[in-house]
Amino acid sequence: MRDVIARAEAGEGLSSEETASLIALEDDSLCRALYAAAYRVKLRYVGNGVYLRGLIEYSNICAKNCLYCGIRRDNGRIRRFELTLEEILAAAQLAFEYGYGSVVLQGGERSDGRAVDLIERAVRRIKESFPALGITLSCGEQSLAVYERWRRAGADRYLLRIESSGRALFERIHPADSVFDERLEALKALRTAGFQVGTGVMIGLPGQTPQDLAADIAFFRTLDADMIGMGPWLPQRDAPLHDETPETPEKAARRFRWGLNMIAATRLALRDVNIASTTALQTLRPADGRELGLLAGANVIMPNVGEVEHRNDYQLYDGKPDLDENARSIRLALERSIAGIGEHIAYNVPGTPRHYLARISRRSEE
Ligand code: 5AD
Ligand code: SF4
Repeated sequence: MRDVIARAEAGEGLSSEETASLIALEDDSLCRALYAAAYRVKLRYVGNGVYLRGLIEYSNICAKNCLYCGIRRDNGRIRRFELTLEEILAAAQLAFEYGYGSVVLQGGERSDGRAVDLIERAVRRIKESFPALGITLSCGEQSLAVYERWRRAGADRYLLRIESSGRALFERIHPADSVFDERLEALKALRTAGFQVGTGVMIGLPGQTPQDLAADIAFFRTLDADMIGMGPWLPQRDAPLHDETPETPEKAARRFRWGLNMIAATRLALRDVNIASTTALQTLRPADGRELGLLAGANVIMPNVGEVEHRNDYQLYDGKPDLDENARSIRLALERSIAGIGEHIAYNVPGTPRHYLARISRRSEE
């Protein structure tokens, strides 16, 4: 196993079986060796500066019914909200004042004209007010025409997770309102529209194997993704997707472990991309989940900059942390914990993925 880790660190391509064996690692000392190797590759390719993205959860209204998600359309137990343009701008201003360098507008998937307009106007206003702020959107599958409008308005990046790159597993966790081939098309359209493209998967879904996850990493590579955001699947009480066997601390611990292993294996395979250490990791280990993600090879964190008021209604999964923490206290805690692991926050820079910059400069040389 140590030989497989060393070869991955040296940049040799691994077979899918070898990648799967990294993801399945349970032994503490081997996991430590895996994370240390991924960390060295991260230092070499992207450094030890952590990019912060101010997360603005602007609306929990969603037209879709994903079987795992707490804000799915049919969940009648949450209050639906949508921030006004002014509220979105206020959150962006806070991110700017904190030196976060970029914001992520994330919301349920809607394609009605009003929702599309709101995003377009919000992006335009943020760009006008804070030209240096990077803008990432995470607003689901849309047509190429809508992506182009948002891109023209000034958005730089887009996150659209494939959730699972295996068609059968994708279909098991989505009702008919999500079509695998349409998700692939949307990812392609994002590239056509000129976005820096991020994708990702959930880890530890019922029935998912390390081989499935190894195929996900191969998918990231084929897509030539610039950013990866992934985290453990967390059972949600209002969502229909449940494991057939009851949840146990051991199962949660394994999903966390696989979450770290996936970050490390992805860093070893993709080298210069941005990888987020996600809230789902923090949910499973509130004290240090995201920091362990950074130490396993991630380099991005997305702290919430929205108002506390709506957090309870934006629970994609149970146990989401920081429900009553305001943006200021979240920032202070992060600053301390990131310094505590010997890293630093890269303030006031947009944090463009090196992978994207390399692709652009290759293209301009051609
Ligand atoms: N557990 C983990 N992640 C989830 N997401 C939605 N529901 C869950 C859940 N129960 C993730 C999806 C989606 C992102 C916004 O949140 O991957 O793309
Ligand atoms: Fe809607 Fe996204 Fe949740 Fe699916 S994962 S129900 S598209 S918010």
